[in-house]
Amino acid sequence: MTIAITTPEPRSLGAKAFLAAGPKKILIDGIWREAGDGRRFESFDPASGRLLAELAQGTAEDVDEAVASARRALTSREWQGLTPSNRGKLLWKIAELIDAHVEELAELETLDQGKSYKTGRFGEIPASAEQFRYFAGFCTKILGTTIPTSIGYQPEGKQIFAYTTREPIGVVAAITPWNSPMLMAAMKLAPALAAGCTVVLKPAEETSLTAIRLVELMLEAGLPKGVVNLVSGFGETVGAALTAHPDVDKVAFTGSTEVGKLIVGAAQGNLKKLTLELGGKSPAIIMPDADMALAIPGVARGIFSNSGQVCVAGSRVYAHRSVHDQVVEGLSKAAGALTLGHGLDPATDLGPLVNRKQADRVAGFIAEGRAEGAEIAAGGTQHGEFSTFFDPTVVTSVRPDMRLMREEIFGPVVAVTPFDDVEEAIAFANDSPYGLAGSVWTQDLSSAHRLAARVKAGTIWINCHSYFSPELPKGGHRQSGWGYENGAPGLDNYLETKTVCAVI
Ligand code: NAI
Ligand code: MG
Repeated sequence: MTIAITTPEPRSLGAKAFLAAGPKKILIDGIWREAGDGRRFESFDPASGRLLAELAQGTAEDVDEAVASARRALTSREWQGLTPSNRGKLLWKIAELIDAHVEELAELETLDQGKSYKTGRFGEIPASAEQFRYFAGFCTKILGTTIPTSIGYQPEGKQIFAYTTREPIGVVAAITPWNSPMLMAAMKLAPALAAGCTVVLKPAEETSLTAIRLVELMLEAGLPKGVVNLVSGFGETVGAALTAHPDVDKVAFTGSTEVGKLIVGAAQGNLKKLTLELGGKSPAIIMPDADMALAIPGVARGIFSNSGQVCVAGSRVYAHRSVHDQVVEGLSKAAGALTLGHGLDPATDLGPLVNRKQADRVAGFIAEGRAEGAEIAAGGTQHGEFSTFFDPTVVTSVRPDMRLMREEIFGPVVAVTPFDDVEEAIAFANDSPYGLAGSVWTQDLSSAHRLAARVKAGTIWINCHSYFSPELPKGGHRQSGWGYENGAPGLDNYLETKTVCAVI
C-alpha cells in the first residue's frame, strides 16, 4: 500500500502564523524565553517528515525558576485575590478562546501528532474547551462542612465548633503524554486552576505545540502571570527535575506505567501527592446475544481511533465462541475500510503514529507475536515514506502469556480470543496487571451490570467503548494508576481538607 501525502499545509491563518513565528519558548513568570543554556530541540510532522518547529529545551535550572514562579503566584493578590466567581469566569473565557481557535488548534494537533483532523476538530479540541467549562462551575462550589462533634471534655459552659475548609494543594507539576496532547493538558490545567493551584506544565517532547498555544490563549484570557508556567523539554531532564523538586506539592501525570513507577520513587523526598494515569490493556467482552450492528463498529472504534494511541484502547477482545468468527470477520472488514493518510487530508481516518520509534515498536510486537504462533486476520504492515504508518490490525491465536496480550502496544492492534462461558470471559478479562477500562457487549441488562461489577477496571462501558466527558471520573485500578481525573473526584485531587476545631 502507498500512502499519498497530498495536503500537508495548514489552512487556518492561526496555525500558519504560529508555525511561522519562530522557535517556541519556555514560559516563566509570564515571560516567554529561551532555555537557560539556549539549547533547542525539534518537532516534526510524522506523516510528511517536515520540521514544524524548534523548541526551547528546558533544564533543571529552568524548572527551579518555573517552580519559584508558581510558588510566588500561589499567594499573589492577582490569583488568590480573585473571587471564586471571577476564577470561574476566567476558566470559561479560556474555553471560549479554545472554541474560537478550534480549526487552528486541530490543525496544529494533526501536524504535530499525526491524528486525523476530524479527531481534533470535532473531538479532542472541543472536549478540551469542555474541560474548562465543567471545572469553571466548581469554582463557586468548593465547600467545607460544619461537623457536630461528640467531644465531651471542653471546659464547663463552653461548646465545640468544628468545620472543614478546602485549600488548593499548592504548586502542581503537570506532565502530559503525546497521544492527545491538548486534551491531556486541559484535563490537568482546568481542575488545578479551579482549585486555586498554580502549575508548571511539561508537555510531551514529541508533541508540545498545542500545549504552548493553549497557554498563550490562557494568558490572552487574562490568567495572572506565574499561575501557569510551561517548561518544554525531555522527560529525563525536565520531567525528572519536576517530580523530584522539593517545592512541588503534587504531580499530575499521564503516561507509561514504567515512568509512573519512576515518579513514585522521585516523589518520595517531600512525599508529593500523586495522580497517575498510566497504561492499560483494556478488554472488550462480546456476549453471544450482543447486538452485532452496535458491537462491531463500537469495538473497532474503541481500538482503531487515534491509531490505537489511546490509554483505554480496547486491545483485548473476548468474543463468545458462537460469535468469534463473525467478530474477527467484522473487525477485519472495519479495519480494511479505514483510510490511512495525512491527517489534514479530509479523506483520512487514521494518520501515522506519533513517530517512527512508536511505529517500529508496534511492528516489533507483531513480528514477535507471529513468531510465537499468532495469526494476522487483517493488516499487520508498517507503511509510509518515514515508516510512521501502521495498518489497523486484527490478530487471532494469541496466547495469554504472549507480550502481544500482556503489554500496552499503543497502536492499532487488537487480539481476538474466543471464550466458552462467562466465568472464562471474566478470568481472561482480569488476567492483566492493568485495570484502566473495559467494555461489555450484551442485550441482557442483568448480565451487563453483573459483568460490569466483576471486571476489574476504573471505567466499564456497556454497549459502547471510549465514551468520555468531564463529568465522568476516570482512573486506573491496579497498575493503571492512582487517583482520578474528571468529575468531583478529579477536583478533590487538587484540594486539601483542613479541619478547624474550636472551643467557643
Ligand atoms: P512516557 O511515559 O515516557 O512519556 C509520558 C510523559 O512523561 C512525557 O511528557 C515524558 O517526557 C515524561 N517523562 C518521561 N520520563 C520521565 C521521567 N523520568 N520523569 C518524569 N517524566 C518523565 O511515554 P513514552 O516513552 O513516550 O511512550 C512509551 C509507551 O508508554 C507507549 O508506547 C505507551 O505504551 C505508553 N504510554 C501510555 C500513555 C497512556 O496514556 N496510558 C501515554 C503515553 C505513553
Ligand atoms: Mg519516553
